[in-house]
Amino acid sequence: MEYKYCENKNFEDLACGKVIYYKSGMTNFPVRLAQEIYGRCVSYLQKKHNICIYDPCCGGGYLLTVVGFLNMGSINKIIGSDINEQAVDLAWQNLSLLSEEGLEKRIRQLNSYYAQFGKQSHKEAIDSAIRLMNRIKEYDRKPTISVFKGDILTKETLAAQDFKADIVISDVPYGNLVSWQGDEQDPINILLENLMPILKPGSVVAICSDKRQKIKVENYKRLERQRIGKRKFEILTPLI
Ligand SMILES: C[S@@+](CC[C@H](N)C(=O)[O-])C[C@H]1O[C@@H](n2cnc3c(N)ncnc32)[C@H](O)[C@@H]1O
Repeated sequence: MEYKYCENKNFEDLACGKVIYYKSGMTNFPVRLAQEIYGRCVSYLQKKHNICIYDPCCGGGYLLTVVGFLNMGSINKIIGSDINEQAVDLAWQNLSLLSEEGLEKRIRQLNSYYAQFGKQSHKEAIDSAIRLMNRIKEYDRKPTISVFKGDILTKETLAAQDFKADIVISDVPYGNLVSWQGDEQDPINILLENLMPILKPGSVVAICSDKRQKIKVENYKRLERQRIGKRKFEILTPLI
């Protein structure tokens, strides 16, 4: 796949477990690929600013946090949900880094680790956090954040939500580190059906999965399908 929206840059400040919090068992996502998928999604949207982005299987929020840092100028709302309560807590922590207060708290924590243990990795994390702080200080308005617990394989989870997403982006479970929980018969297609209440005409949905999980594209039009190594992603728009 040709990268059209993200050059091969150094994303070390966004490495999982450096400034962005990590807990064992949580998955991460290649930063360049996240940014490329976001760029492709935006290319299909009419609006290019004030974007509301939602991840229904957000895990520890790594993907959303990375996309938030790299696109603070175009995103105004970030929403994540996950079936796992611990993942939801970690996603809150990570997405809080997109605010100056959240990053200041992380810098204080890293400084205390460095004072206690004197590790070079903590020093490097502090330097990364300061660079991220300088980056977000350029934006007067930071995205609003919301995270909730929910099983995306049940209709009720989104039925009562009052937001509409411009972009849904999700790295769904593959079964290596994390598996689908709930109704596992045809999870991606159930997820796509259950997303309908929070979509609007022109919304764009990007689903990353392993190659085995098939997308039927009922009630959606496929905009593109790409393969990268063991992963694939598909970008769809709802027929509403
Ligand atoms: C591959 S991970 C997502 C990682 C995430 N993109 C990140 O950057 O941290 C898949 C997530 O799907 C969640 N999950 C599994 N079954 C689910 C369900 N029925 N509804 C919502 N989330 C579910 C898991 O708890 C896991 O956090």
